Amino acid sequence: MRDSNYLIPWDPDELEVYSTEVLVLGSGVAGLFAAINLCSRFNTTILTKKNIMAGNTEHAQGGIAVALNQDDSPEFHFGDTIKAGAGLCNLEAVRILAEKGPECVELLIKLGAKFDKQENRLDFTREAAHSKNRVLHAKDETGGEIERTLVAKVYECGISVQENHFVIDLLKDKENKVCGVIVFNENKSELEIWLAKVVILATGGLGQLYKYTTNPPVTTGDGLAAAYRAGAELMDMEFIQFHPTALLLPGAPSFLISEAARGEGARLLNSKGERFMRDIPGQELAPRDVVARAIWAEMKNGPVYLDISCIGRDKVKERFPGIYKTCLAYGVDISTTPVPVGPATHFLMGGIKVNIDGETNLANLYACGECACNGVHGANRLASNSLLDGLVFASIVAEKIKSNQAELTMPKKEDIDLSLSKKIPSQENSCLDKERVKEDLKEIMWDKVGIIRNRSGLLQAEAQLTDYWREFFPGLDTSELELGNMLILSRLIVKSALAREESRGGHYRSDFPLTNKKWQKHSVIKRGDTHVSYIYL
Ligand code: SIN
Repeated sequence: MRDSNYLIPWDPDELEVYSTEVLVLGSGVAGLFAAINLCSRFNTTILTKKNIMAGNTEHAQGGIAVALNQDDSPEFHFGDTIKAGAGLCNLEAVRILAEKGPECVELLIKLGAKFDKQENRLDFTREAAHSKNRVLHAKDETGGEIERTLVAKVYECGISVQENHFVIDLLKDKENKVCGVIVFNENKSELEIWLAKVVILATGGLGQLYKYTTNPPVTTGDGLAAAYRAGAELMDMEFIQFHPTALLLPGAPSFLISEAARGEGARLLNSKGERFMRDIPGQELAPRDVVARAIWAEMKNGPVYLDISCIGRDKVKERFPGIYKTCLAYGVDISTTPVPVGPATHFLMGGIKVNIDGETNLANLYACGECACNGVHGANRLASNSLLDGLVFASIVAEKIKSNQAELTMPKKEDIDLSLSKKIPSQENSCLDKERVKEDLKEIMWDKVGIIRNRSGLLQAEAQLTDYWREFFPGLDTSELELGNMLILSRLIVKSALAREESRGGHYRSDFPLTNKKWQKHSVIKRGDTHVSYIYL
C-alpha cells in the first residue's frame, strides 16, 4: 500500500498559520458539545467541512435514548445496550453512557432543546431492542432540534466557527505529539496550517463509502483517514450498521424512514402484502441487524414495504411530518399507502480507538462521537444511542482536557516535524476518471462489503480497491481529497472484515454464519501494520 503521513504534498513556507488553544474538528452533536464545555477555559475554534449544520446530527430523526422515564433506570438501559452489542460492548463505557446520559440530556433541555410532551410530561417512545419506552423525540426531527440548540449556544458563547474548512491531515511535533492540522480553506481555495494545544476529532462517520446510505454527502470519513495517516489506531472497522428502512424508489435518495415509525406500530410487508417479521422474535422491533437481513432476504422475492398508515392518518402527519413531506415529494402518501423500503448504510460502530476519556494513542489527540470507538456500541448499536454517545463522551473529553490544562503548551510553527513531509508521495499524473472511481467504490462496498459478506467477495473488493489506490493521487479539490480518504478507509474495512471469520452484530459472513466465542475481541489496525491485531476490553 502506498503509505504516507499526508494525503497531498504541502510546503510550510507557503502557508498561512493560525493558532487556537483547542481545535474541534466537526460540528455535529459531539463537536459542538465539546466546544461548549471547553470555551470558558480555552480559546476554542471549530473547523467544519461545509456549513455548520451539514453533518449527520441534523439528519437524525427518531430520537435520543435516555433513562429518564418513570419506570426506567440506567441499569435497564445498560442491559439493553449490552444485549444489542452482541457480546462486544465495553461494559465500562456502556455504564458511563447509561449513568451520565440523564444529566447530559437534562443540560440539553436547560439549553433550550424542546422534546415532545404528553400532558406536560416528556413523551418517551419505544425503538428496536429497548425493553422500555426510553426514546425522547422532537417529532421526527430530533437531531435537528439538538443541533439547532447547540449551534445557538456555540454562537452565544462566542466560539469561533470556520465553515468550509476541510481538514486534510494532522500535524505532529518532533516528540510525535499532535500539534495542529493542515486545512483546505474552500472559501479562499488555499491550504492553511492551524496550530493548537489539543485537537478533538468529532468528524462523524463514513456512510458515503456505500452506494445506499442514510448519511448526508459530507460523511466521507475524513477525520478517520487523517487519524490513521498520523498513526492513530482504528478499532472494529468491520462493524457497520445497516439501517433496515430507507426509502427505496428509483431516483430518490436513501432517505431514512425512522425506526420510531416501527416503534409506533408500523409494519413491514412483503410484495404479497404479508407481514414477514411476524414469526421472528421481536418482530418489527428485533435488533437492527436482524431486521435489515430479513428485509434483504425478502427483497430477493420482490419489493418490501413499510406500512405506517396502520397507525392512523392523523397520527402519521402529526408524529412524522418530515417523513410524510419527503415521501409525498417522491409520490408516496405514507398516511394512506405503504412505502417501499430497503436497508442502507447508517452508522460506524468502529472508529478511532479511544479510552474512556476519549484519548487516542497519539498525545494531544482526542476523539468523540461517531468517528471514535471506545467499544460502547459493541458489534451493533442500540437504536437512538448515538446522539447520547455524542453528548456523554464529548463532555468527558472536555473534563479530561480541563484536568490536563496545566501540562498543555502552545505549539509554534518551528515545532512541526517536517521530516514527515518528506514521505509525501510524488503526485503522478493519473488518467483515472475520479468520479467513476468514486461510483465504483460505492458499488463495490455495497455489493461485496455490505449486509452479507464472504471471503471471495471481500478478496475481489480488496483487489479492485487496491488497484484504484495505486493509481490515484488526489489534487487540491474537495471531491478528490474525499476520494483519497474513501479509498484508504474502504480497504481498512475490507481487511478487518476478511480477518473476522464469524458473524456478529453488523458483520455477517455467509461463509461463517455463526457467532464464535473465540472472536469475542476487538480488531485494531494501524498504519504500517500488515495484519489486523486484537484486544480484549
Ligand atoms: C432512526 O430514527 O431510525 C435512527 C435512529 C438511530 O440511528 O438510532
